[in-house]
Amino acid sequence: MIYLDNSASTYIKPKEVIKAVQESLLHFSANPGRSGHQASIRTAMMIENIRERIANHFNCPNSNKVIFTQNCTHALNTAILGAVKSGGHVICTENEHNSVLRPLEHLKSQGLIEYDIAYQSHAGGIKLEDIKKLYKPNTYMVICNHISNVNGDICDIKSIGKFCKENNIIFVVDCAQSGGHEKIDMQDANISILTIAGHKGFYAPQAIGALIINSDIILNPIIFGGTGTNSLELFQPDIYPERLESGTISSPLILGLGAGLNFIEENFNSIRAKLDDLTTYLNYELNKLDVKVYTQPENANGVISFNIDQLQSSDVATILDEHFGICVRGGFHCAPMKHRALGTLEQGAVRASISYFNSFSDCQRLVNAVKYIKRKNQNQTIEKLTKKIQQKRR
Ligand code: ALA
Repeated sequence: MIYLDNSASTYIKPKEVIKAVQESLLHFSANPGRSGHQASIRTAMMIENIRERIANHFNCPNSNKVIFTQNCTHALNTAILGAVKSGGHVICTENEHNSVLRPLEHLKSQGLIEYDIAYQSHAGGIKLEDIKKLYKPNTYMVICNHISNVNGDICDIKSIGKFCKENNIIFVVDCAQSGGHEKIDMQDANISILTIAGHKGFYAPQAIGALIINSDIILNPIIFGGTGTNSLELFQPDIYPERLESGTISSPLILGLGAGLNFIEENFNSIRAKLDDLTTYLNYELNKLDVKVYTQPENANGVISFNIDQLQSSDVATILDEHFGICVRGGFHCAPMKHRALGTLEQGAVRASISYFNSFSDCQRLVNAVKYIKRKNQNQTIEKLTKKIQQKRR
């Protein structure tokens, strides 16, 4: 199998991550922050160390404001619902995932906020001017997807962050796709809230994310419950991380994330070089085949999307899987506004996404497979191939 669906989830995990999860199940299974015995304290200390390392990684001054969440969606919901300002206005972008669009739409449908979507005036990513023209006196939050999961477009977070700071706006950056693969400095880019997904660029297991807050903003919890502190009080504590971290957190997943963080910090330059080389290679070769590529050549960050003639992207993904053993994602990528902007609302897009563990030959095989599918389509034998696959699947 050739796995090129790393934007959905990295598949191969570093051995250090597997070991950390195993170690956690063997030695760190006591509940962190609930009891006073040594086993609980030992686990809690491991967790706090990882909290600090995540804060350092993103240059967030206060590690207590690193909140572990179930995933990036949970982190974004906490930021959007927890900071809602009745009568306020939010700006997001065409690159947002449904994890941003749906909570915003929900708040709008409740009559609480209005929001606008910024579209790219330049191919390649959102710029400050795209955001600025939507600014209103009641704008209290700007949400930007850092790197598009659909085609790898990159948002200019630094200039947008400066604008948000000057105008006292909460700046939320969704780093689901960029976290682990890009250097992100919350203070330098004036990011108020940053969210990550562990299972993508941090090579951690699924179902662990984080919400990282670099601001005095008071976020209201969206989940209430036990925190192991102030246990006789009926009110949710004000202090972080407890305020936003109710219920038992997952030590195995957090330890896996910690090991993933070590791995990407130790191999950062090689990871970057690998993603850059392989994305650039794919972009060049796919363009030569005259397929429609939606990724700008300069956005060589491991995400590349394309379509072959008028073929449905989901059919192409099925052929790649069944006939060539290549895993990519077809269809729609939970980002409806991006598909609208790219003109792929009908066809969807085939997305190949690369990790550190992919090789040049993986990408060569994808190029050869695309060449084959294109040829079959041109000599009108693609339907025969598709039918054969459908029969096999039945
Ligand atoms: N959001 C993930 C993706 O892009 C799951 O595939």
